[in-house]
Amino acid sequence: MKNVLETDVAGLKLKNPTMLAAGILGLSMESLMSVANAGAGAVVSKSLGIEPRHGYGNPTVVQVEGGVLNAMGLPNPGIQVFIQEMAENRLTVPLILSLYAFAPKEFATAATKASTAEVNGLELNVSCPHASGTGQELGRDPKLIMDIVKAVRETVNMPLFVKLTPNVTDIVGLAKAAEKAGASGITAINTVKAMAIDIETSKPILANIIGGLSGSAVRPIALRCVYEIYESVKIPIIGCGGVDSWQTAVQFLQAGASAVQIGTAIATKGLSIFREVNDGVERFLKRKSYGSVKEIVGLSHRS
Ligand code: FUM
Repeated sequence: MKNVLETDVAGLKLKNPTMLAAGILGLSMESLMSVANAGAGAVVSKSLGIEPRHGYGNPTVVQVEGGVLNAMGLPNPGIQVFIQEMAENRLTVPLILSLYAFAPKEFATAATKASTAEVNGLELNVSCPHASGTGQELGRDPKLIMDIVKAVRETVNMPLFVKLTPNVTDIVGLAKAAEKAGASGITAINTVKAMAIDIETSKPILANIIGGLSGSAVRPIALRCVYEIYESVKIPIIGCGGVDSWQTAVQFLQAGASAVQIGTAIATKGLSIFREVNDGVERFLKRKSYGSVKEIVGLSHRS
């Protein structure tokens, strides 16, 4: 029987349109396998850099109304250690490696290393909202996005996604720059720059003071970004930001996303969120007599 959820995104064949978002459960083969076994169509690693990085002190995560605020500081063991960890890739779904770096040339070096690993694609993190010298400090500038994507494109030939920040007035300009420079797809969005204060101490709660907000509170922003980007680029979009049910996944697909990433909802609902979303989307497609999930991508623009 035909799998109505099957799709492809920039050449990656997916059994369904859900993916693990970067940042959660993304550093070991075991945890990535548990996400794949829970039903994700693809998985994305935690963002990796050339050098290991400790990240910020605690607290790095705080629950707030409508979501989660985090400022981990890009902690990771370094790309080489991750490559070793992936040496025996036992995943049955595509693995996308998330990369951060501090300059275009360094992105290219990191991508070259990544291409020696058993990975199926790269996601460039030019959107972390609180890391000095990297993340959105680079990715708010369309010219720098072009330089980074071109440098990586000249180095590796694999699906290349660019994860964009919503913390700009013109995310469409960033998406167009990424497309022009050779990106295969856009991931929209990374977290929204935000903070929380403890009124008893009058101090900011996060050790880093400023963090990134994810979860249902950012969903309308993410949805708007996907909708606007879809109108302006031809490359596929992966929607990310507050997907926590099949209904919210359908909203992203109809706004123009070819797939959705799930992160924060894992903290609230557990890994069963992947089956919940996939089963719900499948029932929706059948109820509406669609033959494939691809048929609803961008539907809101045609109605
Ligand atoms: O703190 C962190 O590791 C967050 C990364 C990101 O928002 O991309």
